[in-house]
Order: sequence, then C-alpha cells, then structure tokens
Amino acid sequence: MIHIEESRCVRCGLCARICPLRCFRVTDEGVSVHHEDRCMRCGQCVAACPRAAVSLDGVNPDSLLPLSPLPDAERLAALIRQRRSVRAFRDEPVPEETLRRALDVVRYAPTGKNLENVSWLVIEGKAALRRVADRVVDAFRPEPRLAGVTASHDRGGDPIFRGAPCAAFACASGAYDLDVVNCSIAVATLDLLLPTLGLGGCWAGYAMRAASMSPAVREAMGAEQGMTPLAGLMVGAPAVEFRRVPSRREARVRWVKETLA
Ligand SMILES: Cc1cc2nc3c(=O)[nH]c(=O)nc-3n(C[C@H](O)[C@H](O)[C@H](O)COP(=O)(O)O)c2cc1C
Repeated sequence: MIHIEESRCVRCGLCARICPLRCFRVTDEGVSVHHEDRCMRCGQCVAACPRAAVSLDGVNPDSLLPLSPLPDAERLAALIRQRRSVRAFRDEPVPEETLRRALDVVRYAPTGKNLENVSWLVIEGKAALRRVADRVVDAFRPEPRLAGVTASHDRGGDPIFRGAPCAAFACASGAYDLDVVNCSIAVATLDLLLPTLGLGGCWAGYAMRAASMSPAVREAMGAEQGMTPLAGLMVGAPAVEFRRVPSRREARVRWVKETLA
C-alpha cells in the first residue's frame, strides 16, 4: 500500500514526477494516490521524497537504509577491469556468512517490472558438484561438439565446475519473458562483488546450458520444482593471483545522433 503522510508532504510533486507507472495525482488540493493497482513497489517515490512523506506497505521511510558514499569512478572501473574468471580455487569451503552477505547485497540489483523474482540455489561441496557435473555431461553426450568436455570429465577432470568448492545459481520460473536477463544481472552483480570479499567466481556456462535443457540436471542440482537455474557461477577462494589486466577489444559503438533536417 502507498501512503502519503499529509503532515509531512510539501506537495512538491516529485513522487508523481518520477513514478514510472503514474500512480500519483497532483491537484491544487495536494498529492494523492491515484492508481495503487499499478504500483510495482520499486520504491522510487519513497527514495526520492525530500520529506520522507511517502511509505510503502507500512514501512516507515525513516527506518530505511541511509545513503552511503559511492566508490569513485576510478575504483569502480578498477573493479570492473580487474574482475577475472577464477578457475583455480583453494581447497577450502566458501564461508557461508560471506556468501550470504554478498547475496544480501545482490537483492538490490534491478529486476524487470521490479519483480524481485530471482531466488538462489547454492550447491556446496565438491562431491555434490561432481554429482551435478555427472548429469551435465550425460546431457552433453549426444552432442559431438561437446565430446572434448565429456572426455575430460570422464578422465576425472572438472571442465564443468573447475574444482570449485561451491556454485551459486540464480533461478526463476521462466514465467516472465526476461527472466534470463533478471538472473544474469543478479549473477553478474555477484561476480563483481566476490573479489571485494576475498572470493572469485567463474560463470558456469556449461551447467547453465544443461540445467535449462535437462530435468535430470535440475534434479541433481536440487532445484525447487518449477524453478530453473538460469545463470550461475562457480565460487571459491582464488588459488592464483592475477598481476595485470588483459587487453580487450575497443568498444564498438554506433552513435545515432539527432540531425537537423
Ligand atoms: C555466459 C558465460 C558463460 C561462461 N561459461 C563458462 C564456463 O562454462 N566455463 C568456464 O571456464 N568459463 C566460462 N565463462 C567465462 C568466460 O570464458 C570468461 O568470462 C572470458 O574468457 C573472459 O575472461 P575474464 O572473465 O577473466 O575476463 C563464461 C562466461 C560467460 C559470460
């Protein structure tokens, strides 16, 4: 429920201006909630109100998280450039509390329509991951172009999870047509956070692909009924230190600018 505390509201109309779904109406009498039914609970009105006059679902705006200073552009750029896929892990478990802290931050990553419909499946331990990898490889056996992956697994290697002690998958039902995007944003956000917590990740592309096509893989993963792991990372403490930033292709950008007739 959207509530406007009239004693606080200064009728600036900012809530109405920024609401993406035009839930508010500003008249000479003040600001009112016009279309509660459209609200997607994105909280933009709550976040922007200069007088903390707007609340959602009975949550006192004064009790919400205050803003913290942001990292400067160079430090954030360094994190983006220096994040690496980790494929050599120390033989130690991922501290549960650290991963929980990271996943708690990822809640703030955007989701289409603010659905907040991503849930996590965390698979801990090499034995559990090996059982999943067995099923992933079974799903790949009919595909000749994946014969190398299958052969490596059969020789005792781990091309699927790279010896990671843990893997985290973002899951959604698939009911929303951009669920893969929602899950990918969540995983990309986690991937960026991990190096700040002494951990590293690597996208588990093979496992993602197999999970989307094979119920046996989803079952081995322990996925909830009706939820598909749509994006995921292997996670662990890196065993290798990276010393420089590898080069990347120049950004390819096509600018389409308004031109005067
Ligand atoms: C969607 C996606 C799937 C990936 N799947 C795998 C995978 O299954 N196994 C793997 O070792 N690396 C995988 N990677 C990691 C890429 O190979 C890696 O990001 C790329 O080589 C660039 O290296 P960097 O992450 O260190 O910058 C995947 C990356 C993405 C974005």
